[in-house]
Amino acid sequence: MASTPLSSIMCTPTRVAVVGAGRVGSTLAQRIAEKNLADVVLLDVIQGWPQGVALDLMEARGVERHDRQIIGTNDYADTADASIVVITAGKPRTPGMSRDDLLKINARIVVEAAKNAIAHSPNAILIIVTNPLDVMTYLAWEATGIPPQRVLGMAGILDSSRFETFIAMELGCSIADISATVLGSHGDLMVPIPRFSTVRGIPITELLDAATIERLVARTRNGGAEIVELMQTGGAFFAPASSVCSMIEAILLNQSRLMPVAAYVQGEYNLDDVFIGVPCWIHCGGVRQVLSLNLTDAELEALQVSANAVRENIQRAKEMLA
Ligand code: 2OP
Repeated sequence: MASTPLSSIMCTPTRVAVVGAGRVGSTLAQRIAEKNLADVVLLDVIQGWPQGVALDLMEARGVERHDRQIIGTNDYADTADASIVVITAGKPRTPGMSRDDLLKINARIVVEAAKNAIAHSPNAILIIVTNPLDVMTYLAWEATGIPPQRVLGMAGILDSSRFETFIAMELGCSIADISATVLGSHGDLMVPIPRFSTVRGIPITELLDAATIERLVARTRNGGAEIVELMQTGGAFFAPASSVCSMIEAILLNQSRLMPVAAYVQGEYNLDDVFIGVPCWIHCGGVRQVLSLNLTDAELEALQVSANAVRENIQRAKEMLA
């Protein structure tokens, strides 16, 4: 009996488009494929570079034993019908730079990339990684006009992971038992919340003295800059890629996970019309709901100071783009 050749059976596997094939984008492509989450289309403006990275990742399949397709391209048309678009494109920090110093350079890159990608994947969920993160997330949302629930900025998971790592190092315990919470913007004004950071449910305020906690909070705030200073030629990429991949997993597997992400707030925490790091329920549609916690006056004030700084930079960016 004649069998139907497999190649003639059309199906559309889930695909994630990653814009920017630098160290974050390339590592993310590897994480997505090797966790068997989706096919990946890796786009960059450099001719040949994404194609080479994709081919290299494909050639690892003989060892990694996954069947995910990874394609490299310089053409947005090849990213069409992606379920998720991730924007990592832009310039990384160099030593001594703040994330806000990247505002002018990256605003135009991110707006262009987001518009081009969403034009080919109008129903996609958009995840922003490029810094300054909270501002770039707002600009991408405004440029594409897609519902804000489908636009997320990756920051809180990375900052929380750093805080968790430093807590585990301090206590000499397994990271498996630690859950930390960091809200606010992805920068010096981020808002780690020690009382919502626990070891097997026990707040770290029961386990560490105030001076130690403050030292760990300060190191978390400076986490990105510490790596830039050590590496000199760019910033972190393994932990950022892992953080984005956990968001992609929560979306594609519809996990309804509670995650700190840069999300659009409309009255929560007395904030409006800004993207900022807040706890969100993440599901197949992106942000299902922003969770309103009962913060202390000091925590709430810190969050509002953080959001005000983001708003100022959104205004600066709009003036630069005008
Ligand atoms: C970081 O904090 C790249 O913003 C990223 O390392």
